[in-house]
Amino acid sequence: MGYKTREWRNSMRVTLDYNNMTEKFLGDKGFTDKQLSAYASTANAAFRYVKENRGKDELYMGWTELPYNQKEIVNDILDTAKNIRKKFQYFVVLGIGGSALGPIMAFNALCHLHYNDLPKSKRKGPKFYVEDNVDPVRMRDLLDVIEPEKTCFNVVSKSGATSETMAQYLIVLDLLTKAGVNVKDNVIFTTDAKKGNLKKISDELGGIKSYVLPDGVGGRFSQLCPVGLLPAAVLGIDIKGLLAGAAYMDSVCNKPSMRQNPALMSAVLQIAAMEQGKNVGVMMPYSDNLKYLADWYCQLWAESLGKNETLDGKPCNVGQTPVKSLGVTDQHSQVQLYTEGPYDKVVTLLSLKKYGCEMPIPHGCENIPDVAFLGGHTMEELIQAENAATAYALTKAGRMNYTLWIPELNAFTLGQLLFLFELQTAYAGAMLNINTFNQPGVEEGKKATFALLGKAGYTDKKQELDSLPAKDPKCVI
Ligand code: PA5
Repeated sequence: MGYKTREWRNSMRVTLDYNNMTEKFLGDKGFTDKQLSAYASTANAAFRYVKENRGKDELYMGWTELPYNQKEIVNDILDTAKNIRKKFQYFVVLGIGGSALGPIMAFNALCHLHYNDLPKSKRKGPKFYVEDNVDPVRMRDLLDVIEPEKTCFNVVSKSGATSETMAQYLIVLDLLTKAGVNVKDNVIFTTDAKKGNLKKISDELGGIKSYVLPDGVGGRFSQLCPVGLLPAAVLGIDIKGLLAGAAYMDSVCNKPSMRQNPALMSAVLQIAAMEQGKNVGVMMPYSDNLKYLADWYCQLWAESLGKNETLDGKPCNVGQTPVKSLGVTDQHSQVQLYTEGPYDKVVTLLSLKKYGCEMPIPHGCENIPDVAFLGGHTMEELIQAENAATAYALTKAGRMNYTLWIPELNAFTLGQLLFLFELQTAYAGAMLNINTFNQPGVEEGKKATFALLGKAGYTDKKQELDSLPAKDPKCVI
């Protein structure tokens, strides 16, 4: 593999601990060994389906090969990122959904939590923004804090037809033109190799620097291609480490037995729980750095598994609602519901064995034992104790939960987590016998927006919208 030593890689392995899903810890609320074993053949079939279809562009499974097939692209990205870091004060990603959640997640996971507030000497790269909405206030406020001529804009859209991203692009194009800047100097596209509007725009402008969003890679599976790698490299994140971590998890999961394959086992646990009516999947990192990993995961899980048709065309309504939660913050809000509300949830805890720092808690308030006991501990001990306490409280209340243990947070372990969740999603989709990689529900919303704003070719859709019954004023109170 060539990334650090084998010993180091093994010491950084992310592991799955699902004890708190079992009868031993949850009593009759947990799975017996027999119940889990009943999934062995379905799990094995899902494993074989994913393995046999790896890399197939026509099935949108090109993402499985991203850890291996990007050597030249990675070198190009590293060179480009170096220049961007030297030349620009600001780096702005324009994109939405799969084109934005990955960059946001990696930024938050591996950069200083107040990166943009650091002095330039400590940041070493441009200030970083990802604009994944078309709230006009947000756009106005972004423009208040950046200087367009000193900004590199990375426009990320596979289709080049997404209204949000293209509206932002038009605003930026206008600003740059008015500022007398050559668009080619300040804009980079990440888009489809051959089709789509960004390709056309690039050709018209005589070739904008463009990275390819590969054919077989859908938005939500694109963090490990230039969509995520370019912004990460600009931030100084070790992108080779991300890919090495993904490849490492791929090798860990290259086992047909669910008892040895953490992605396959977590898919089985979720599917088995869903079959018992646990329709809510809570993703709860005990780490501020991983707060947006939960967002990224929510898109992956929801958009991939929320489907109304099986692969053989039978109607179905499947999927599990992902919920993001942050430890310890949400211990003081949502955890009440998780421990005493309906038995409809599985909680995934993301737990760090080591944080980036310990942060000692000084002794003080010695006359007040309720406070003094904290002195001499560290904040790391405190957050870890609270994490253990939540796992305990959930388990005591008979609530399914499992933990992904992360030795420490770095590019290699983040790469493992991404690949683990992608594989887990692909296995779960195979078990549900659905198309994991399409998103007709999202497309429907895009088409309705086109119709409402008068895009050519959408008159039928506009008529469909206009033919809705008039609103009943009685229902507006
Ligand atoms: O996962 C997906 O496919 C979506 O979230 C897309 O990434 C999102 O809709 C943006 O699409 P595009 O890249 O075509 O602009």
